[in-house]
Amino acid sequence: MSNTDKYAVFGNPIKQSKSPVIHAAFAEQCEQDLQYRAVRVELDAFERSVKSFFDGGGCGLNVTVPFKQRAFELADKCSIRAQRAGAVNTLLLAEDGSLLGDNTDGVGLVRDMVANLGWSLQGQRILILGAGGAVRGVLEPLLREKPRSLTIVNRTADKARELATEFGELGAIDGGGYELLADREFDLVINATSASLQGEMPDLPGSLLTARSCCYDMVYGAEPTVFMRWAALNTAWAVADGLGMLVEQAAESFYLWRKVRPATGPVINQLRNSLA
Ligand code: ATR
Repeated sequence: MSNTDKYAVFGNPIKQSKSPVIHAAFAEQCEQDLQYRAVRVELDAFERSVKSFFDGGGCGLNVTVPFKQRAFELADKCSIRAQRAGAVNTLLLAEDGSLLGDNTDGVGLVRDMVANLGWSLQGQRILILGAGGAVRGVLEPLLREKPRSLTIVNRTADKARELATEFGELGAIDGGGYELLADREFDLVINATSASLQGEMPDLPGSLLTARSCCYDMVYGAEPTVFMRWAALNTAWAVADGLGMLVEQAAESFYLWRKVRPATGPVINQLRNSLA
């Protein structure tokens, strides 16, 4: 029997997942003997698929749409950041055999902005567009960076207000509808709406950017998103997409599983070239 350690990502759909390519690159770079597969799991089969994966000797799982909340429910114990997110994207076994859940999305976003792009978050005025699962997953790590303020705006304003209330004890955070943006400026704008995926973006006043503002879209692709084009047109200082976040969240999962931290720069470049 092979000694190769088994990892996988469970999602539905899963065809688009870049995780197998990313983890294969990490494994090669760090000389780790492992196999990582993308598995499409039927909607009613998530819990039993996780159980049979680990019962069959699997070492670790990533979990993606639409199963992150169910992975959170399923885990025996969760990290603080996963508890705050109410969602788990990484599962592993503890020594006593219990199932541990973590969430590496937020730390992936922060590492990409701070370490790769060189954007400081400390003392900055941050604006987040959207109030769905993607936002909930990143708020705790963002607030840990001690921004001056964090504002969440959303088409459904109540969802932004609720998030602001829930995370209020962690820092200066407010939330509401897009009308909150009138006459305000931000140092960093993060688009976490799914609008980019439909080639849309919320209607934003250009006046919210200064000559030093950075803009980040959590979505990535071969072409700049509508939001990225808007940012460039409104003379943002720097603009980035979410490819680096994708690789950084994977690197953090890899570290949790293997206790080895891969270099992410070469893998981000590899993926960027494959998109072109
Ligand atoms: P995710 O897990 O990616 O966050 P989600 O939970 O479905 O996905 O959330 C999608 C987010 O994008 C929501 O904040 C949504 O706004 P609503 O809460 O009002 O639905 C936002 N969104 C999607 N399409 C949008 C659009 N065209 N304009 C503005 N916001 C949009």
